[in-house]
Amino acid sequence: MKTLLHISDLQKELRASLDGNKSIGFVPTMGAIHSGHISLIKRSKQENDITVCSIFVNPIQFNSEVDLTGYPRMIEQDSKALIREEVDFLFAPDVVEMYPPGEETQLDIDFGRLDKVMEGKHRPGHFKGVAIVVNKLFDIVKPSRAYFGSKDFQQLTIIQHMTESLKLPVEIVPCKTIRESDGLAMSSRNLKLTIGERQVASEIYGVLMFTKANADSIPVRKLQVIAQKRLAENRAFQVDYFEIVDKRTLLPINTWNEPEQIIACTAVNIGGIRLIDNMELFS
Ligand code: PAJ
Repeated sequence: MKTLLHISDLQKELRASLDGNKSIGFVPTMGAIHSGHISLIKRSKQENDITVCSIFVNPIQFNSEVDLTGYPRMIEQDSKALIREEVDFLFAPDVVEMYPPGEETQLDIDFGRLDKVMEGKHRPGHFKGVAIVVNKLFDIVKPSRAYFGSKDFQQLTIIQHMTESLKLPVEIVPCKTIRESDGLAMSSRNLKLTIGERQVASEIYGVLMFTKANADSIPVRKLQVIAQKRLAENRAFQVDYFEIVDKRTLLPINTWNEPEQIIACTAVNIGGIRLIDNMELFS
């Protein structure tokens, strides 16, 4: 694996290894690599000639300085994990490389309601920051396919919308959520939980499973309230939202009429650590 810190170096390397029509698979991350990230890399390795992974803790998608500075950074450990997976190129730029002073970082896309609900409501500007950095990274790497986890379902929807709006020549590949043995969705943020918090965190999965088990038999709105209450019963949890929505619009639904389009999404703060998760209720 070659690690590149500069855009021009990465592009030189990619040009040199891209004879004929080789495909590039791309896995953008913010590091603290775990099995969720690795599953995306494995898929990219299967489906492409070259796999590029990026590690960049993107400041403009964070809403709080504390969250940004406290985000886990462990580039050496991450590099070792990526070498084991035989990633071809790791792109690990610093902030100045991605956002040179004086250069404009705007992106003119109307996401409609997609970036206003759920995460968007609680983290204003977050998805704009995600879209800007992913668009920039796509422009640098020029991937044939890019891999994103369904764990961040709203992010995946935003990126699909951006790719369609800008007619970007990249296929967005959604990948399933990888979980710990007790059901907790893998996340770099899990590292920040205390042992006690980590133990109770799996209740998020428990409530999603409970919702799935009762979908169709309890009216949607009622089930949503029951699930929310179940989460809130846990003293360590501060529940930002628990919503049952349409996968396409991310807006709340009122009936179980279109089962294949229904997903439950939630965000819970535990000791100041914000965890998100979701589950398709009829898959
Ligand atoms: P990060 O949180 O590091 O996640 C990188 C990718 O891994 C995302 O596509 C995310 O959905 C996926 N992922 C995280 N946990 C997963 C899990 N348990 N199972 C499967 N996939 C999982 O998401 C970001 O970084 C950033 O917002 C980024 C897209 C890199 C832009 O800065």
